[in-house]
Amino acid sequence: MAEKTESSAYGGAAAAQQKKLTVPEIVAMKRDGKRITMMTAYDAAFARLVDKAGIDILLVGDSAGMVMLGYPNTVPVTMDDMIRMSASVARGATHPVLVGDMPFGSYQTGTQDALRNAARFMKEGGMDAVKIEGGRETVETVRALVENGISVMAHVGLTPQRVAMLGGFKTQARNARAARRLIDDAVALEDAGAFSIVLESIPAPVAEIVTERLSIPTIGIGAGISCDGQVLVLHDVLGLYGDFKPKFAKRYADIGSQVVDALKAFDAEVRAGTFPDAEHSFTMKDTELESLRQGLARPKAV
Ligand code: KIV
Repeated sequence: MAEKTESSAYGGAAAAQQKKLTVPEIVAMKRDGKRITMMTAYDAAFARLVDKAGIDILLVGDSAGMVMLGYPNTVPVTMDDMIRMSASVARGATHPVLVGDMPFGSYQTGTQDALRNAARFMKEGGMDAVKIEGGRETVETVRALVENGISVMAHVGLTPQRVAMLGGFKTQARNARAARRLIDDAVALEDAGAFSIVLESIPAPVAEIVTERLSIPTIGIGAGISCDGQVLVLHDVLGLYGDFKPKFAKRYADIGSQVVDALKAFDAEVRAGTFPDAEHSFTMKDTELESLRQGLARPKAV
């Protein structure tokens, strides 16, 4: 009788193949009155889970700087950091539109740099689109990218790459003048060809006005219920990041404490000598073991 094979290797389960969503389909969702879901992920394992949940857009956010890389903010994140994570995500997700977040310094230095770096997101990172933070000052860059075949998601309101200048992670557009400026920026970014726009940490009524004025979808994070879609940072949703919890970040699960409980149980079993047990160990035929023992009893040939 054939010996039962015991699996000893990691074999990633192939993600269930779902139809790939496209950028035009995301834009059409607004026209059709369908709400859009967007979530961040930074590796293939979580990208598979985001995919399985049926999320529409998967953002490889530069929030990775904080939740994955341990920085206090997103400023130190590099293109190489983002490309490595994007490529991993692209291997895990088949259904959502994949958006790569252009990190600080990758597009502010000129259109050529922006084009080169955005192209890296698509060629090396497997992304479908890129996201750029900023208002009217990014309009020329957005236009250049779109004219060269790169879909762009804009991002206004709280733009975390400017955290030092803003004096912290603060709600934006709280007075009429700043709100007017933000609305004008959003319109200019749509005119430049952006296919959607993130509205981060702004009063809900301002987001409602932007959403009414634009024909492209608005994706809110701390921007109220009237946006066409909503995005959150995966680690906030799952309770995997405790260092900073914005008011708008809703925790849907507390995976962090489950991880600690599991690791404590492993730690205790190893110290007690109860792991690994027979179920988690490999065997060999008695005849092979006996032959090994006899061989070891003989002096080694020199
Ligand atoms: O980096 C990020 O995760 C983001 C989202 C919060 C929109 O920009």
